[in-house]
Amino acid sequence: MAVMDRLALSALYALSPEAAHNMALRGLEYGLAGRRAEPDDPILATTVFGLKFSNPIGLAAGFDKDARVIDAMLSLGFGFVEAGTVTPLPQSGNPKPRLFRLDEDRAVINRLGFNSGGVAAFAQRLIKRQRRPHAPGIVGANVGKNRDTTDGAADYVACIEQLSGLSDYLVVNLSSPNTPGLRGLQARAPIEDLLRRVLLAHKRAAPNPDKPPPLLAKVGPDLTTDQLRDIAEASLGAGVDGLIVGNTTIERPESLKSRDKAEAGGLSGAPLMEPSTACLAEMYRLTKGRLPLIGCGGVASGADAYAKIRAGASLVQVYSALVYEGPELARRIKRELAQLLRADGFVRVADAVGRGH
Ligand SMILES: Cc1cc2nc3c(=O)[nH]c(=O)nc-3n(C[C@H](O)[C@H](O)[C@H](O)COP(=O)(O)O)c2cc1C
Repeated sequence: MAVMDRLALSALYALSPEAAHNMALRGLEYGLAGRRAEPDDPILATTVFGLKFSNPIGLAAGFDKDARVIDAMLSLGFGFVEAGTVTPLPQSGNPKPRLFRLDEDRAVINRLGFNSGGVAAFAQRLIKRQRRPHAPGIVGANVGKNRDTTDGAADYVACIEQLSGLSDYLVVNLSSPNTPGLRGLQARAPIEDLLRRVLLAHKRAAPNPDKPPPLLAKVGPDLTTDQLRDIAEASLGAGVDGLIVGNTTIERPESLKSRDKAEAGGLSGAPLMEPSTACLAEMYRLTKGRLPLIGCGGVASGADAYAKIRAGASLVQVYSALVYEGPELARRIKRELAQLLRADGFVRVADAVGRGH
């Protein structure tokens, strides 16, 4: 890690985790990310759900909930950035403190509860971005429901209608542990109903209804094989374009050592790597490779990204490792991943997808 990056990270560590995050966002908004991303190694280029990615390493949802720093994060070398989760109406989320760094475990617990400035402001930022020169790279918009909404599907539809045509892909987040009732949407009947309504609205709202942008669902890592099978069948049946596996976990592995390990919320980072990769592998087996998957949970190195890809991920996302590793993370993961692919004789990252099965 460069000296300046190390100094900046130490300064941020002196603050509470949420204050540090807000400070980092402000710095990024004012251009501290600096230099433009250099061209990617061609072995990393890949086309997934019809979109061309110059590398498969993305920034997961939750870092840039209000679509403020998309270009700054792309210029750190991410091949794609997923902004959100955004809700139809602004909401402040849960009481603070609600974000905890588990340093000894290289992990994070959050119970933010979808704090966001609402979809109208989010859409305005995407419109402004489209009008000015911006970094190349793929942008996703991740949508959710307001805490007190009873008809969750109506909230997803409202967000999708407002964001149509403003991002390269959309994600319906069905798996945050911090919004009461949300994860219940992953059960068979609710998910079928929700996907049907959302996809209908999505097609209607798309600038070109014959070719709407890809729509994905993000699911949790705490699902049984039966639940995963229901989601796989519902997603294939409804015509969803892909799945993100997955979100934070409500499990607390025995191995956790940090003081705040018993805080309520979703756990992410290193302890999530193994269970979320097992869940991803199971989803790949159930969908038989017919549905592109994004692997997310605990990735901190090229070897971790490679493990997700071999388990069935066409793309990979990271968040928590950024807290510990700083702004060089995407570049390092890409460098290590390219080396691992070459060492195993692959010429394109897509050829390694699912090869662990
Ligand atoms: C502070 C924090 C906030 C998050 N907020 C969201 C969110 O708003 N929407 C979402 O889909 N996932 C959210 N996530 C989950 C991440 O996108 C990701 O799925 C999870 O952290 C696992 O990846 P990681 O181990 O690389 O962090 C959040 C994660 C963290 C740590």
